[in-house]
Amino acid sequence: MSVIAERAARRRTFAIISHPDAGKTTLTEKLLLFGGAIQLAGTVKGRKADRHATSDWMALEQQRGISITTSVMQFPYNDCIVNLLDTPGHEDFSEDTYRTLTAVDSALMVIDAAKGVEARTIKLMEVCRLRDTPIVTFVNKLDREGRPPLDLLDEVEKVLGLQCTPITWPLGMGRDFKGVYHLLEDRFYLYSGDKHRVSEIETIDGLSAPGLEERFGALYRQLRDEIELLQMAGAEFELDEYRAARLTPVFFGSAINNFGVRELLNGFTAWAPPPQFRHARTPDGERDVQPDEDKFTGFVFKIQANMDPKHRDRVAFLRVCSGVYRKGMDIHSVRLDGPVRVSNALVFMAADREAVEEAYPGDIIGLHNHGTISIGDSFSEGETLGFTGIPNFAPELFRRVILKDPLKAKQLNKGLDQLSEEGATQVYRPIINNDIILGAVGVLQFDVVQYRLRDEYKVESVFEPVQVHTARWVESDDERKFREFRDKNDARLAHDHYGQLVYLASSAVNLNMTRERFPDVRFVETREHG
Ligand code: G4P
Repeated sequence: MSVIAERAARRRTFAIISHPDAGKTTLTEKLLLFGGAIQLAGTVKGRKADRHATSDWMALEQQRGISITTSVMQFPYNDCIVNLLDTPGHEDFSEDTYRTLTAVDSALMVIDAAKGVEARTIKLMEVCRLRDTPIVTFVNKLDREGRPPLDLLDEVEKVLGLQCTPITWPLGMGRDFKGVYHLLEDRFYLYSGDKHRVSEIETIDGLSAPGLEERFGALYRQLRDEIELLQMAGAEFELDEYRAARLTPVFFGSAINNFGVRELLNGFTAWAPPPQFRHARTPDGERDVQPDEDKFTGFVFKIQANMDPKHRDRVAFLRVCSGVYRKGMDIHSVRLDGPVRVSNALVFMAADREAVEEAYPGDIIGLHNHGTISIGDSFSEGETLGFTGIPNFAPELFRRVILKDPLKAKQLNKGLDQLSEEGATQVYRPIINNDIILGAVGVLQFDVVQYRLRDEYKVESVFEPVQVHTARWVESDDERKFREFRDKNDARLAHDHYGQLVYLASSAVNLNMTRERFPDVRFVETREHG
């Protein structure tokens, strides 16, 4: 096996998907703790008070600041190098969250035992399904009274369409939580409720070990009944089914009490897929780029403005798809068709940034730039290729931008173009007037854009509501029909930042009627970048 293949095979690149409050932050801290990346839990990000003040810029700034050091966390565990990609913590959906999921090979789903499958989890699962991303499930907060475990599994199966295979099973819950039984190891892990105990946990081997009945009574009998039910249902763990995203192994625990996290991490690192091939367009058609290819390739899935806006310095997050990145190496931007020198690329460790020496498939590197790199850009050692599958999402919220000082139109346009390249917002320019309409997936995005226009581009602007319900990219193979469509609908058409034509529907009814009237026109909801 080549060095690249060997290194790639050890990478596990993943993100956590969950509904706010299920315990993503807590679990992230504990994963880092078990991975030895941090000494003390509690360093990942500001707590509640900061996170809810979403309209307060201080909070935004803090979020940006903090998330830049923790957007990607790398730590070794067992024989693996684990890359955990953080998705923004605030309650709004943002396109960053979606795109981050295009850069991972698998995901960890955290569910609150009392709440089950919640709205945001459903939405994130839809995104995972686009690429058949394998999912490991952690049911959290077993130290609190929750719903019966069988109910929870049933809900995951029905709502998310994933078959569940429990790997651990709870012995009691809430005040009576006594631990979990590991079905594959045939071993009990007992819970002491002591947050500080990371290593010594009492274990008992064997489902029928002597003394269990006396010690745990009815709780033990219930566990035996449930295990029997599970075995009858034949929900055995099959690696292929998990890797095909049809089955999810399920672990139970309590993140805040460090309980069940080590078992989760052991299962996760053993089963989660290493970097997979990635689909790319080439001048001759398309090809699958394999991670063990000699030559370096990668794509940018996220861009973040740096801590110091005065320098307008940005960090582009690039996922390595093949080959190896070495410090100081010239890499070729396929879009610009030229080399980009990145002498100071960064690799991400927990709460720390280090200059990267080498990065392998599955790793994320940060590239400093001043606006030369856009989301969706592909990089190589010279080959012309474009990775596919980094989507632009049709936004769900719209605002018209009103400039306070009309003489600043040039700065406004420049700012908006750059911010849209970063993926902070989408910009639409109607074809019949000089309006500028912004689109976003989450409302917080507008606050960020308004603040940054003022702060970085010295442009004061007001955003006002606009009669747009949804946006669809439009295209057609029939040129004559497309022209007719354009002529009849010019009042609702605009160009996006990349010059693509977009239909701005005033309502769901309007969209449906227009669709029916022009059956030869395709109304597209997600578009590839570029
Ligand atoms: P999030 O990132 O998914 O939004 O969740 P986060 O980890 O911030 O956890 C949300 C709340 O749930 C926090 O409490 C956290 O302490 C609690 N929590 C996480 N894991 C467990 C667990 O295993 N058991 C119990 N009982 N609680 C858990 P909070 O009071 O809302 O916030 P804080 O003041 O503790 O930060």
